Amino acid sequence: MRMGKYKKLLALVAVLGAVAVIAAVGCAGKPNPGYPTPRAERAAVTPAPDKFGVVKAEQWKDIYPLQYESYMMNGLNKPPAWEYDAAADTTTVDSQYKQADFIDEKADYLEMYPEIKTLGKGYGYAKYYTEPAGHVYSLWSVTHNGRVNDKTKAGCITCKTPQFSNDVDKYGDEIFQDNFFERIAQYDENISCASCHANDPTTLEVDRKDWRRAMGEDATRVPLQGQVCGQCHCDYSMDPVTGVATSPYYGGVASMTPDSALQWYDEHGYVDWTYESTGAQMLAVRHAEFEFCYGGEGSHMINMGYNCNDCHMAAKFSEDGVAYSDHYWSSPLENADLIARDCSTCHKDITAEVRAWQEELDGRAHQIGLRAEQFVFNFEDAVKAGTLSDEELARLQYIQRAACYYWNFVTAENSEGAHNPTLVNDTLDKAEALLDEGDQILGKSSKLP
Ligand code: HEC
Ligand code: HEC
Ligand code: HEC
Ligand code: HEC
Repeated sequence: MRMGKYKKLLALVAVLGAVAVIAAVGCAGKPNPGYPTPRAERAAVTPAPDKFGVVKAEQWKDIYPLQYESYMMNGLNKPPAWEYDAAADTTTVDSQYKQADFIDEKADYLEMYPEIKTLGKGYGYAKYYTEPAGHVYSLWSVTHNGRVNDKTKAGCITCKTPQFSNDVDKYGDEIFQDNFFERIAQYDENISCASCHANDPTTLEVDRKDWRRAMGEDATRVPLQGQVCGQCHCDYSMDPVTGVATSPYYGGVASMTPDSALQWYDEHGYVDWTYESTGAQMLAVRHAEFEFCYGGEGSHMINMGYNCNDCHMAAKFSEDGVAYSDHYWSSPLENADLIARDCSTCHKDITAEVRAWQEELDGRAHQIGLRAEQFVFNFEDAVKAGTLSDEELARLQYIQRAACYYWNFVTAENSEGAHNPTLVNDTLDKAEALLDEGDQILGKSSKLP
């Protein structure tokens, strides 16, 4: 959601680094105006993959230096915290990174949105919830997110390293049940080239098989430039029996809406945790960036032909004039060149526009979160008083589950509403309608004064 200090510093470095800005000829309506589509030659020899079948980022350094260097920008603020000793075949985490500046400076959502502590009570995200870090920190972040313990399953490693995805392909879904620490200790490559390119960076390939299943027939229609991101930047939950990270979608992008996700979780008995004081069967939602962009009817920009990479990996020129896709994933608003040659051909001031959307939508989501919190308090009072019929209790439990699902679908999304303001409002309307119904059953308003 909000940017921490360290990101602003990185942004500055990125802007200063983009010296070779070449005047773009406006060509509104088509992504990337004035810039050629970057191309790369397939490597004559593919470097030898590791024992998991993964060619590591480091091994592409001399073959695709521009992409590699921009990828390394994702970790510019600190060296990767994960150390691998090839001779001993062991991996160690340097514990001093726990205090690393970049962690201290990440925005703490529990402080900014205290309602999360009530709405997520009993689940991990109420204990620790900060803004995301860059891709090269994925293994570190998942190990130090304050939520994992000895009982944590390996399923949490989903989307953190291509080595795990390859192990899933090789050993099957059983490994989702393995002990988290035992499994993650084997891995030493963060989100990396192989997550999006397999072992050939001149092509794109989805790494996660569950995502290929969820896309169905759309797997061949929707550009891979969006799907490679969507395989991780989407909602999913752990199968109650197998622990497998499972997408709730079965019908391609048309089915990728909060309504159909909730319905699918309901029909398949998904419960992330039980809310102790009310008995509600709760769901946790993951970062649904793909759904906000491509899901249902799609956002304006996607329907106009933009994909994730057009905004987040816009082409750049190297000093000697070679065009390449910028592999430093950050806010498009930090990319002055992109705004000047592309966004500004239609948006008078995209930064101001985005900030205005975010302020309004994030503010509304926050208010509804606070209202949902009050609803939970009212519900708890009624449970204690013992005045509810079985039917009322069941309905209120479902209202808590569903209203929080809609609220969380919006708040867990990382663009703070920018990706699709319309869908944010529609989704929050649904949360409010449920809370209205809950208030009526309880005979008590949860609306804030
Ligand atoms: C999160 C996904 C992702 C990761 C990780 C990733 N790439 Fe890419 N890469 C892309 C996308 C998307 C494109 C644009 C492809 C297109 O438009 O056809 C791309 C394009 C490329 C290209 C083609 C030329 C260009 O610049 O567009 C090369 C070469 C490349 N990447 C190399 C790498 C290397 C090397 C790494 C690791 C150091 C890497 N990529 C990591 C998503 C990724
Ligand atoms: C293999 C899973 C995976 C893929 C593929 C992936 N992401 Fe991510 N992304 C993550 C995770 C996990 C994080 C958070 C990492 C952390 O906090 O350590 C993240 C973080 C980010 C961030 C926040 C970075 C920051 O410093 O705030 C951006 C932006 C982002 N991803 C964009 C993209 C785009 C665009 C694509 C496709 C080109 C993509 N991601 C593909 C898993 C993935
Ligand atoms: C039309 C341009 C556009 C497209 C297409 C787009 N985004 Fe974004 N994205 C944005 C903007 C604008 C923001 C808000 C940036 C800010 O707050 O500074 C954002 C924010 C994000 C963030 C949060 C970044 C952070 O620093 O915390 C992530 C993660 C992200 N987008 C991922 C994706 C993924 C994945 C896709 C494709 C499924 C995608 N985006 C498609 C424009 C776009
Ligand atoms: C060809 C014209 C055009 C260009 C170029 C363009 N946009 Fe848009 N954009 C629109 C229109 C039209 C809308 C929807 C109406 C509105 O502004 O609410 C929109 C909406 C958006 C939204 C809201 C989300 C959505 O899809 O509904 C974001 C974010 C956005 N644009 C970002 C960008 C960024 C970043 C760039 C530059 C990479 C860009 N746009 C380039 C025309 C354009």
